[in-house]
Amino acid sequence: MADACFGETPGGGADASDVKAAVRELYSKVAEGIESCCGGGEMLTGTDSLLASGYEAEAVAGLPEEVIASNAACGNPIDLAKLQEGETVLDLGSGAGLDCFLASHEVGKTGRSIGLDMTDAMLEKAEANRKKMRLENVEFRKGEMEAMPVADGEVDAIISNCVINLSPDKKAVFNESFRVLRPGGRFVVSDVIHEGGFEPSGSAEDWCACIAGAISEEEYLSGLRESGFEGAEILTRKPYIAAGLVSVTIQAIKPQ
Ligand SMILES: C[S@@+](CC[C@H](N)C(=O)[O-])C[C@H]1O[C@@H](n2cnc3c(N)ncnc32)[C@H](O)[C@@H]1O
Repeated sequence: MADACFGETPGGGADASDVKAAVRELYSKVAEGIESCCGGGEMLTGTDSLLASGYEAEAVAGLPEEVIASNAACGNPIDLAKLQEGETVLDLGSGAGLDCFLASHEVGKTGRSIGLDMTDAMLEKAEANRKKMRLENVEFRKGEMEAMPVADGEVDAIISNCVINLSPDKKAVFNESFRVLRPGGRFVVSDVIHEGGFEPSGSAEDWCACIAGAISEEEYLSGLRESGFEGAEILTRKPYIAAGLVSVTIQAIKPQ
């Protein structure tokens, strides 16, 4: 994988700390309802956006309105993660809690659903909704996915929805994912990738819009393999909002 996709910001423009600060600022505003993910424009919102991302209407019907309104999903990793009763699942960049809440039903009372996010306003919103839904098996942790506050081998499955593209250091995210999964654990994430010939501007604005940080399929899959994963593959693929970008769900397994 090209180093430019991991340690540096491709296309020049913002550096890694600028990217993180801009991403935090945007998603604070998304949590507060004063900005929509990726700047609004032609994008669908609310339940329509979830249906377009691949969720079933019945699955999201029981979620609080604020969770639906603050969602910033680009796919549906839950169905493909095949979560089992009693498992521990970790959601990277959990936002207002969408997938954590849905996962909590899959893993049941004997399982745990952990959401990780670096943005205070999102964590506050997620926790308020957790209390409202009285979900005892859901927990939100503050932290960055490049240095996760999660013990070695603590989780059976990692899910994530439209988040890893936002990281200026994807190698760290893949290495950390490998570390926190148990042997045999699975990584099933929806994310935005780019198809050949895409030239991101590298601006902080394009990073926030899930455009500038998108890497190619080959870079994603080889990055996972370099971190130790096996069976890295694309499970689903559909067009994303901008030309040259696609929303995919990617799976990889930590060897036994
Ligand atoms: C596009 S939103 C997706 C939220 C949620 N997964 C959903 O589908 O609604 C991105 C979320 O990831 C969080 N995030 C971005 N970069 C992060 C990082 N490096 N570490 C932890 N959280 C991050 C943001 O704070 C934001 O809540």
